[in-house]
Amino acid sequence: MLKNFWWPLAFSSEVSRKPIRVTALQEEFVAYRLPDGRANVLSDLCVHRGGALSDGWTQEDRIVCPYHGWEFRADGACVRIPANPPDAPVPRKARVDAYPTVEQMGWVWAFLGDIPAAERPPMPTLQDAGAATIVTGAISWRAPYEQVIAHLAEPAVAALALDGEFVAEAPRVGDVSSALSDWGARLMATLTPPDRVERSLLGLMKKRMPCAPCEALVAFHMPCITLYRAGDDHMMMAHLPVDAQTTVTKWMVARKSGQTEPPIAHQRMTAALERMRPQVEGQPSPQHPIAQAFVRLRDEAIARGWGIDAHLIQAEYANIKAVVIPSPARREVPELAAAWVMKEAPTIKPRDA
Ligand code: FES
Repeated sequence: MLKNFWWPLAFSSEVSRKPIRVTALQEEFVAYRLPDGRANVLSDLCVHRGGALSDGWTQEDRIVCPYHGWEFRADGACVRIPANPPDAPVPRKARVDAYPTVEQMGWVWAFLGDIPAAERPPMPTLQDAGAATIVTGAISWRAPYEQVIAHLAEPAVAALALDGEFVAEAPRVGDVSSALSDWGARLMATLTPPDRVERSLLGLMKKRMPCAPCEALVAFHMPCITLYRAGDDHMMMAHLPVDAQTTVTKWMVARKSGQTEPPIAHQRMTAALERMRPQVEGQPSPQHPIAQAFVRLRDEAIARGWGIDAHLIQAEYANIKAVVIPSPARREVPELAAAWVMKEAPTIKPRDA
């Protein structure tokens, strides 16, 4: 699990004025919208007594902790403590970490880390697919996110972006080539989906219709994103590590030519991913150029001091002391240096990588 990357934490459609909790990197975050519609992400841990801000509510530009009513601005500063006299200043230490947040192509992304903007790894470049149909969903795996990425960053998985019933059968994959980029890797391949089965109007006759081969692309972008293109159809998956052994994959399919109703498309996609569960959770990670690129980039990030030490958190801090991923203000605002009550999540020592 790595800090100092842009993490896609939620679909835009999930984030509203009502706060929601997002668990990722063994931490809790709260996402909500400000009165002008912008999405905002804070640490979910109220600095007063550790209450969950996501159980609270929004009031104008503030989020209100439900336990004792402390009110926090978008930048994480507490601006009102109801139990204090109205003219009493709010202590500087009354502040939670606030993470830079942007929305792109239907996702809310938060920069979970503290390095300056100029040093941050980029988000992937997402093209507007000009989609007629967009379908979203999520699936939880009992597997580390490295393993989930290695299993799902396969050209055959790109076939799930296509409309049709053939997701029950794997497509034929031919002519695979690969390319590396600064923050990821790509696999290109020709996919030949299995024949499409068409039924007559009364449903009595079945006819197998051959599907045309198409060019497929699978791209991986640090820290957790797989992008797929098959023909004109696109798909993005974000593999969010909940903890060291649990991963949630959120997926979004954008189809130009989809004719399947979204609820049916959602069902088919869910069924296709469920069929992959024994492989994703039980089989060793396949070795392909994307899996290898991920390991190299992850180890480089750990060497920079960006690897969160999930085992240390579990062993030494669980249920004793909360830790949070540090936000940019911890470095950028010197006068706040002593204002942080919550300890920073420990990182893996580079020599242990
Ligand atoms: S725990 Fe949040 S205001 Fe007390």
